[in-house]
Amino acid sequence: MPAVSLDNVTKIYGRDTVALEDISFEIPEGEFVVLLGPSGAGKSTMLRVLNGLTQPTEGEVIINEKPVGGERSEVGMVFQMHYLIESMSAFRNALTGALSRSNFAQSALTMYPDEDKRAALEALETVGLLDEAGQRAGSMSGGQKQRVGIARALVQDPDLLLADEPVSSLDPKAAKDVMRYMKEAAKERNLTTVASLHQVNIAREFGDRFLGVRDGELIFDGDREDLTMDVVDQIYYGDDEAAKERAENLATTAPERGEDDE
Ligand SMILES: Nc1ncnc2c1ncn2[C@@H]1O[C@H](COP(=O)(O)OP(=O)(O)O)[C@@H](O)[C@H]1O
Ligand SMILES: [Mg+2]
Repeated sequence: MPAVSLDNVTKIYGRDTVALEDISFEIPEGEFVVLLGPSGAGKSTMLRVLNGLTQPTEGEVIINEKPVGGERSEVGMVFQMHYLIESMSAFRNALTGALSRSNFAQSALTMYPDEDKRAALEALETVGLLDEAGQRAGSMSGGQKQRVGIARALVQDPDLLLADEPVSSLDPKAAKDVMRYMKEAAKERNLTTVASLHQVNIAREFGDRFLGVRDGELIFDGDREDLTMDVVDQIYYGDDEAAKERAENLATTAPERGEDDE
């Protein structure tokens, strides 16, 4: 049984903005999937459909054999912006991930069960922040904040981890660092993961499988070997040769491009 299954999913916003067009795929449990596509391709919509925040116009999303949206806690989400409470410690922030699974009245009084506190410390350990558990989130670096965001999602004990451009606001080194922790966390817990990424080199390094979307269509589904430069160009530029050329010219003048290319 696949952990995730999208069955002919279409999402149309308003009258005629087709954000996703007849998309079907299955993800086996524990796979680390990277979603690639230019801005406006439908990546965020895909992730929102996967976590039940957005209803597809047509089609169905099944997570662990159940239609999505029943229990919110089954899907953990990491965002581009961390949305941490800056005045609270890393530990307290991670603990808020338990809100969706604890008794609400208890949580509202911040009397988290010991089990939740243990889960928060374990999750911080997973993202390499156990020693920083007491540190105020507001005083942490961008990469550390994203790792706290991952810890918070892990505390939810989700069946599926989603991340919408989790490292796009970070410098290349911090971005790789965060992705390394996310990948390790997913492997350690056999957690099915779908992350949209902007940086192709980082995507290539961490993904087990790649989905390429363009104009709402799934135009690529394959592994690292299949993800050739031609495929990447097709995902980002389609048949727009002029746009591709402009990007290539930019790449030869931009200093940081190529720095992480293996
Ligand atoms: N809430 C919304 N209402 C109307 N149109 C939307 C909404 N969200 C996204 N869109 C449109 O859907 C398309 C896909 O957007 P999105 O999923 O955000 O793409 P990506 O995350 O790849 O940049 C775009 O054309 C975008 O303008
Ligand atoms: Mg987006």
